[in-house]
Amino acid sequence: MCGIVGLVGNRNATDILMQGLEKLEYRGYDSAGIFVTGENGKSKLVKSVGRIDDLRNKLGIDVAGTAGIGHTRWATHGKPTEENAHPHTSASKRFVLVHNGVIENFKTIKDEYLVDESFMGQTDTEIAVHLIAKFVEKDELSVLDAFKKALSIIEGSYAFALMDAKDPETIYVAKNKSPLLIGLGEGYNMVCSDAMAMIRETSEFMEIHDKELVIVTKDLVTVLDESGHKVERDSYTAELDLSDIGKGTYPFYMLKEIDEQPAVMRKLIATYAGENGLMKVDPEIVKAVQESDRLYIIAAGTSYNAGYGSKMMLEALTETPVELGVASEWGYGMPLLSKKPFFIFLSQSGETADSRQVLLKVNELGYPSLTVTNVPGSTLSREATYTMLIGAGPEIAVASTKAYTGQIATLAFLSKAVGESNGLQIAKDFDLVKELSLVAQSIEATLSEKEKIAKIVEKNLLTTRNAFYIGRKMDYFVAMEASLKLKEISYVQCEGFAAGELKHGTISLIEKGTPVLALISDPSVAAHTRGNVMEVVSRGASAIVIAQKGLEQESDDFVVSKVHPWLTAISMVVPTQIFAYETSVQRGLDVDKPRNLAKAVTVE
Ligand code: F6R
Repeated sequence: MCGIVGLVGNRNATDILMQGLEKLEYRGYDSAGIFVTGENGKSKLVKSVGRIDDLRNKLGIDVAGTAGIGHTRWATHGKPTEENAHPHTSASKRFVLVHNGVIENFKTIKDEYLVDESFMGQTDTEIAVHLIAKFVEKDELSVLDAFKKALSIIEGSYAFALMDAKDPETIYVAKNKSPLLIGLGEGYNMVCSDAMAMIRETSEFMEIHDKELVIVTKDLVTVLDESGHKVERDSYTAELDLSDIGKGTYPFYMLKEIDEQPAVMRKLIATYAGENGLMKVDPEIVKAVQESDRLYIIAAGTSYNAGYGSKMMLEALTETPVELGVASEWGYGMPLLSKKPFFIFLSQSGETADSRQVLLKVNELGYPSLTVTNVPGSTLSREATYTMLIGAGPEIAVASTKAYTGQIATLAFLSKAVGESNGLQIAKDFDLVKELSLVAQSIEATLSEKEKIAKIVEKNLLTTRNAFYIGRKMDYFVAMEASLKLKEISYVQCEGFAAGELKHGTISLIEKGTPVLALISDPSVAAHTRGNVMEVVSRGASAIVIAQKGLEQESDDFVVSKVHPWLTAISMVVPTQIFAYETSVQRGLDVDKPRNLAKAVTVE
């Protein structure tokens, strides 16, 4: 969700910023821009609507530069136009600024401080650069003091990188609630909203905490806390492999990430299964779960659906009720909690602002929490009491796949560890290493049948405007995720429905040819779901049945090999990921970067 890059030092700024923006494009892709400066006082500001390639086409090569900032935008305030693209400049053109986040009081600031100012666009960001310029140019504050003063007035979320044309060797940065890191190099330093943007240049990074202000020059990084005191901070080495962030020979990241899922399952076994079948889960986490009387899973989107996919297993093995919370709802409306709650945050990125808002409340209330995430050192990981890593490798396609399956598998290890520690026989009998190995094999079998799914898509999903996924029990939870996947990358309006609930109203939407995809993996409700399939077929629907081996019928469209009932959310979701992928490809859409979306939603 918007990406920031910045560089100062002995490197070709234009090249590095452009490469960084390309790596960050999945964070937002409606417009982009860079400002570079440094060669004989020359500077250049280029902005473009559209993708990074559009920006590159406008760039020219006349300023290589030794310092600069760049931005890729996902519009919040103001349409995706060149005027609204970042970097933004002050009226004098002296100050240049990029911003991620939302300045909530921008209207008040405009009315109170900037009534005479004229603005180029409609963004909330533009007021920040005008405000800083006013404090320097009219009130004669130093740039640092002006920036500090502006930050004390601005309310909301922000990651800022600011440059002053009179001092092109310095980048001023600050953050609150939006991610931002410093990348450290030899003779140069960098700023980025995601380590991935700069991993080509360095693996040494330094965190910035909320409300801190950092002054970055080529040899020095000075961190100041909110009251202006210097903060000492060690750097850390990011364990990101450059090859992990490439697409290889794949046409889209999403396909690569779908294909990586068997390896993710096996890696999780290696991470969390110890010798003699003992789980390598932090005993402190196990204890915290044991001491709680209710587990609250907080998440958004696909991660929220992964919470549902884990609920049955968690409840069975921890013998503790599990409640799900949509992060964006809970941030401002926490329901009545149990006496000893334990919070589990599921987040691929670890940066989702809605989830973080809940975590802030949870921390204020003093309750323990666990973040299950794919990104070590991410905000939700740092701020929760405990972390369990999925270790799925960077997920770059906007549509999440391997993080969903990885989250459920990670929670399986936690569930088993708690169950065993509680002495539960069903936990001891649940041979997770064997069961997850079977899941990996089941995924592989599904992956080998992509062609079959491609044909079903061609026949049923190429032109439809709407569709349904139906299922009962775990299959209902999978239907929720399957429909989200189809919606977001193929733009087919799709609802994931409890199969038995359809007849209570929504069945009126079924018309001749409406695709209804039924998921059948649970023998206790298979006959009921088949009955619901008959109901829609007799009203003209085109039914597509995805059944688990052992429950299949000859007329079924796709068979998924059998896995443990607690893990069917993983095996059954994989064909639905391929359905979504194929529909998007066959409709000629940009699978990895669907319209209106961005990876890691860092605004509330
Ligand atoms: C959908 C998708 C989103 C994310 C959601 C939460 O494919 O990726 O729905 O799941 O924005 O993101 P994380 O998991 O990073 O907190």
